[in-house]
Amino acid sequence: MQIELKRAGKEDVDDLQKISQKTFADTFGKYNTPENMRKYLSENYSVEKLLQEINNRNSQFFFAKVQSQIIGYLKINFNSAQTELQEGNSLEIERIYVAKEFQGQKVGQSFMNKAVEIARKNKLRFIWLGVWEKNLNAISFYQRNGFVIFGNHVFKLGEDLQTDIMMKMELDNKKWEP
Ligand SMILES: CC(C)(COP(=O)(O)OP(=O)(O)OC[C@H]1O[C@@H](n2cnc3c(N)ncnc32)[C@H](O)[C@@H]1OP(=O)(O)O)[C@@H](O)C(=O)NCCC(=O)NCCS
Repeated sequence: MQIELKRAGKEDVDDLQKISQKTFADTFGKYNTPENMRKYLSENYSVEKLLQEINNRNSQFFFAKVQSQIIGYLKINFNSAQTELQEGNSLEIERIYVAKEFQGQKVGQSFMNKAVEIARKNKLRFIWLGVWEKNLNAISFYQRNGFVIFGNHVFKLGEDLQTDIMMKMELDNKKWEP
């Protein structure tokens, strides 16, 4: 399968909304009430909110495409766009989602490689992310990529309080220095 990663810009906001809502609902729909889900999707993935995020210079979005179909996306944050920590020497993977029909075919790995490449180019010290404690698939995927748990935080889905595990991967930048 030929996967192409492409940076998404403001002209892509409608496509971004579609893939964001679809992948979030596919992943978390079964654990939440339809009402909480609707509330979360409409508040967090509105066109206005996504446009603001795209226009933030400290965030970047990438689509994964097969032929011209969008099959997943990645959102990374630097500096003040990070949802926590907000240090200058780290990169946050805020969202990494592959459509369920395309999981297990190295799309997630391509996104992870992209994040690592960008972090290294910018000489950052570590990559971090928050993942729902019950999302065991994603946790295994991150562990396989060298992430370790370093804390947790509480996040709100609709009216439900849920716990995210925080994980990080240190980057050895020495080999990237001239
Ligand atoms: C987690 C996710 C991004 C992984 O992407 P993917 O395209 O399915 O995974 P890949 O095919 O790139 O797998 C890469 C490696 O991770 C491993 N891996 C992937 N899913 C795994 C799992 N559930 N358990 C163990 N290992 C896993 C693969 O075996 C592969 O390792 P290998 O190279 O040694 O074979 C994807 O499954 C997804 O979008 N899930 C739903 C959304 C989600 O939970 N996002 C994270 C929110 S925090």
